[in-house]
Amino acid sequence: MKKQVLTGIKPTGRVHLGNYIGAIKPALELAQNEMYQPAYFVADYHGLTKIHDKEEMSQLSRGIAATWLALGLDPEKAIFYRQSDVPEIFELSWILACFTPKGLMNRAHAYKSIVEENAHTGRESDTGVNMGVFTYPILMSADILLFQTDLVPVGKDQIQHVEIARDIAENFNHTYGDTFTLPQHVIEKETAVLPGLDGRKMSKSYNNTIPLFEEPKKLQKLINKIKTDSTPPEAPKNPDDSIIFTLYKEFAAEDQINEMRSRFTSGISWGQAKKELFDVMNARLEEPRQKYNELMETPEKLNEILQAGAEKARQKARPFLEEVKIKIGLQ
Ligand code: TRP
Repeated sequence: MKKQVLTGIKPTGRVHLGNYIGAIKPALELAQNEMYQPAYFVADYHGLTKIHDKEEMSQLSRGIAATWLALGLDPEKAIFYRQSDVPEIFELSWILACFTPKGLMNRAHAYKSIVEENAHTGRESDTGVNMGVFTYPILMSADILLFQTDLVPVGKDQIQHVEIARDIAENFNHTYGDTFTLPQHVIEKETAVLPGLDGRKMSKSYNNTIPLFEEPKKLQKLINKIKTDSTPPEAPKNPDDSIIFTLYKEFAAEDQINEMRSRFTSGISWGQAKKELFDVMNARLEEPRQKYNELMETPEKLNEILQAGAEKARQKARPFLEEVKIKIGLQ
């Protein structure tokens, strides 16, 4: 039996290098292994907790789908779908809600940090919290548990959500006997946090990201914005202290990396280092960028792929949901 691997991306912003290196790339690498059955999806209903603009939602959601495909996801091998096309997820979500202690949701970090921020600024504790935000982890549990997922490749910030899915599954299994597979998170690079333009973690909330499929000219401009110090051009520089080198390592080949490392220690100007970073990044991203642009320009084609994927997902989901409903006495 193949192990089920599943992960989703929510459409709340343009996909950036941090998303790619931290989540998409490792997930696609896992899919190369014949031992795994991958399922990848666009978590559009999760996006709805934040995005309340029709155009923005449809654009961002298509963007996520096109990104997966442009980076090499094979819809023949993986189950690839849009969450909102698989209504079984929401049926299960309600069932799971009835096995979720409210206290577990109170402790979920995204909700908790809004509440803490509100306390800090003297606002009422639930200001800015819709019920989608509050029950977000339940929907994510349904995503995971409906497909009997073994492994969930995610970024560090999502570990708690996968643990919540486990907790909920255990609660259900405890009452009705073994039903849900207990999922495990997979973190590819525990230590590597991709730095953004200012050196802090690359994140939309810090406004320091480099969009993955930025046009070459703009990409070069953004790279030029990377914060550097005032070390003179010919002075030796510590590669391991440099945002430029950290990014370079993600895109260059082994021998290029070694070469660049020694040029840092013998002295390379920041300007030159940035130029070479652009070159390796652009070389790697050129083809996927073109594929991405093509897919964004042919929404019908994208839709067709997603519809076929949703059908595949529902075929797998339906019988299992029936089984669950029989267990709780609803069939
Ligand atoms: N919450 C995840 C994120 O913000 C996205 C997501 C939704 C997800 N459902 C999922 C990830 C199921 C893994 C499995 O990144």
